[in-house]
Amino acid sequence: MSIVDRPTSGSSLLGGSIVMPANSCAHALPPRLVSPWAGEPGTAGTVAVVGAGKMGLPLAAQFAGHGWTVIAVDVQEAVVAAINEGRSHMGEEPGVADLVASAHAAGRLRATTDGAAAAREANVVVLIVPVMLDARQQPDYRHMDAAVDAIAPGVHVGSLVIFETTLPVGDTRDRFAPRLEAASGLRADAEFLVAFSPERLFSGAVLRNLASYPKLVGGLSPRSTERAALFYDSVLDAEIVAMSSAEAAEFSKLADTTYRDVNIALANEFAAYADRVGVDIREVIAAANSQPYSHIHQPGLGVGGHCIPVYPHFLLSRAPELTLVARSREVNDGQIGVAVQAVRDALGGLDGAPVLVLGLTYREGVKELAYSRGVALVEALRSAGARVLAHDPLLSDADIRSLGAEPYPWGSPCDARALITQTADRLWRALDPAWFPDLAILVDGRNSLSGLALPPGVAHRGIGVPARG
Ligand SMILES: NC(=O)c1ccc[n+]([C@@H]2O[C@H](COP(=O)([O-])OP(=O)(O)OC[C@H]3O[C@@H](n4cnc5c(N)ncnc54)[C@H](O)[C@@H]3O)[C@@H](O)[C@H]2O)c1
Repeated sequence: MSIVDRPTSGSSLLGGSIVMPANSCAHALPPRLVSPWAGEPGTAGTVAVVGAGKMGLPLAAQFAGHGWTVIAVDVQEAVVAAINEGRSHMGEEPGVADLVASAHAAGRLRATTDGAAAAREANVVVLIVPVMLDARQQPDYRHMDAAVDAIAPGVHVGSLVIFETTLPVGDTRDRFAPRLEAASGLRADAEFLVAFSPERLFSGAVLRNLASYPKLVGGLSPRSTERAALFYDSVLDAEIVAMSSAEAAEFSKLADTTYRDVNIALANEFAAYADRVGVDIREVIAAANSQPYSHIHQPGLGVGGHCIPVYPHFLLSRAPELTLVARSREVNDGQIGVAVQAVRDALGGLDGAPVLVLGLTYREGVKELAYSRGVALVEALRSAGARVLAHDPLLSDADIRSLGAEPYPWGSPCDARALITQTADRLWRALDPAWFPDLAILVDGRNSLSGLALPPGVAHRGIGVPARG
């Protein structure tokens, strides 16, 4: 065998997502339109998708693309108007704009703000509005409660209601089914059916993921599970997994996302130890992951976005005894402090120091600021007294100002003494240190700029990577 520096095989050498092959469509299209729809293979009915956002609109387009009549429901008039003109308001999601346009042109996709009317007309209602966290890190149900209350008067005998939004374990059965029963006057799992099916898609690859990730489904009883599984089998090209209960399906999404948070926290702790013993954590992780049971993710400046930092708290809201989960949240949120301390050490203090943050969205290429560590980093630097500048190719100057930083025009001369990369945007590779004549340190927060040549005297500090300069 040949001798190599790094393992050349293994499905998760770097940790994180493994690309799964997309299944091609094996449905006989178009299906036969029926009303009411009772799950017969080869047939389609009407589905209401409640919440036509980053996840809901691609879902609506996918369902329409498989022959269903789709009514998108949203509280935002502008979203409804765009869909009714055949336009996607989700500029960056590959393939969605075309699918929305063709579904609309074929008369299979329209939108409304009237949830009750949509539910009345629909055989299936899919809810995909956000459940976030409140200031006490408890689930904030205001959007979902409002959406459930809006559709409930339209739920009728034979309706199938599916929750795709991530929920704490037990909410489908104990919080939302009774709410639907109270408003509709019908019995759940008897006169109408209720299931949970977690949305597990990745922004930027939603349509591809829909064709590859197995679709998990768990109902209030096997009856609800079976109907929901038949629905997804008619609209998706992926494997459908009929689970034993709604609770098992709810838990699976929290387990998947929390696993990633805990895994990244472990990688961050390993990175701190790698710093202490002077080895490169990337070499260690790549080597460890060449054993097929090891799937260590990458260290960095913490975890952002709607999902990974949020769902551990959904678990903790019901199971505070999960101390490993709580500790992992602390470790990941604490990574911002690692960057701030590195800059403080290099400059001898932060008071009045100009610091440029590169990347404010939670990850490169996705215009999403929810729980972004970039926002937290700006706040931490400002409260330590620094003058904070920032650049993000996805944000306008006004966006950047609203987050408390001065916009930095890419490529212009700048008096920054420290740079911190908070995303791994490819744009940073074109960075020219000559733009920053006073530069003392680059904190490479995602270990993506190890190859960047820096002038003598400028320090490079990665996360678990031997220091340079
Ligand atoms: N964004 C992601 O990367 C992602 C990934 C996997 C799963 N999810 C799941 O999808 C859920 C939704 O996420 P998203 O990114 O699509 O959110 P989003 O903010 O992009 O879209 C939510 C939409 O719901 C609408 N809405 C809010 N309240 C409503 C109501 N009462 N009735 C009708 N519409 C309403 C909003 O106007 C908005 O258009 C998340 O809470 C999560 O559980 C998201």
